[in-house]
Amino acid sequence: MSQPLAVAIAHSNIALIKYWGKSDSARNLPAVPSLSLTLDGLTTTTRVHFDAELAEDHVELDGSVALGREQKRVVALLDRVRALRGFDTRARVASRNDFPTAAGLASSASGFAALALAASTAAGLELPLETVSGLARQSSASAARSLFGGFASLPADSECAHQLAPEGHWDLRLLVAVTEEGRKPLGSTEAMEVTKQSSPYYAAWVAHAPTLYQEAERAIRELQFDALGASMEQSTLMMHASMWATRPAILFLTEGTLAVIHRVRTLRSQGLPCYFTVDAGPHVKVLTEAKHADALQCELTALSQVKRVIPCAAGAGARLISETELAGKVALC
Ligand code: DP6
Repeated sequence: MSQPLAVAIAHSNIALIKYWGKSDSARNLPAVPSLSLTLDGLTTTTRVHFDAELAEDHVELDGSVALGREQKRVVALLDRVRALRGFDTRARVASRNDFPTAAGLASSASGFAALALAASTAAGLELPLETVSGLARQSSASAARSLFGGFASLPADSECAHQLAPEGHWDLRLLVAVTEEGRKPLGSTEAMEVTKQSSPYYAAWVAHAPTLYQEAERAIRELQFDALGASMEQSTLMMHASMWATRPAILFLTEGTLAVIHRVRTLRSQGLPCYFTVDAGPHVKVLTEAKHADALQCELTALSQVKRVIPCAAGAGARLISETELAGKVALC
């Protein structure tokens, strides 16, 4: 093999219009269309090395050997790459996030996007970005969007995501208000499956999601901030409402989350343009225009429930980096 090693970086993305629920669980196809902003902060760096000497895959995440479900999900993606390439060589994978893993900050999105790009390249495959997005999507549907910079879309039932508008299209900021440190108790995959199985609100969610998606897509095209914010907040709260109606209820929103949500609404009523979104975790991501980002950051940082604020602008899509560039960035292992 000519190039058995590759390193890729990918940024996390935050859904402005949420993916929640699968139309086909076995193929991991989304039941609803989603739309995201790729962020310039929250980065995963992943190196994949296919090595004929290895008897099995070796996976290290944030400096620790991955076990159980985490390890299985990585190996499953490597298996798909091996099947495409038609070889059986095992790989050494090392990956590092510059933000807390599995805490509701979309670490699986940047993680599987970086892994899909690094693994397919290391295997010698030169795949179109859409195909790499499809590989990532099979591991975690939100990851399909992180291959693309700026605004990305993953239509319902779709194999892969595509870019709606590049990062320079609109100078927005997403401020991540971290309300708790530590891993979240329940993963998105399980939580959305329970919602589908037991929430009487799930059907209403799936029926209304395309309307929210279309509103948001138009708002992005026409740079209508309030229209985008309104669709984003409704998508967020409809998704959480569908979870609240499961038995037992799934509650990702904590007291801290609600305090930040209320503060955002108050600030908006006082004339600071800002809108909230929350994923499968307690943190609140607050969208604003670049010119208001500093004022908003001061307001959020002042809240006792907020541990820290990570300000993010629109970021680029996943890309390969050289070993030299890697050496200047992070120590992988
Ligand atoms: C709330 O992409 O993590 O962040 O496909 O089962 O891996 P799987 O789910 P995942 O779900 C993300 C859910 C969300 C909303 C979103 O990113 O669209």
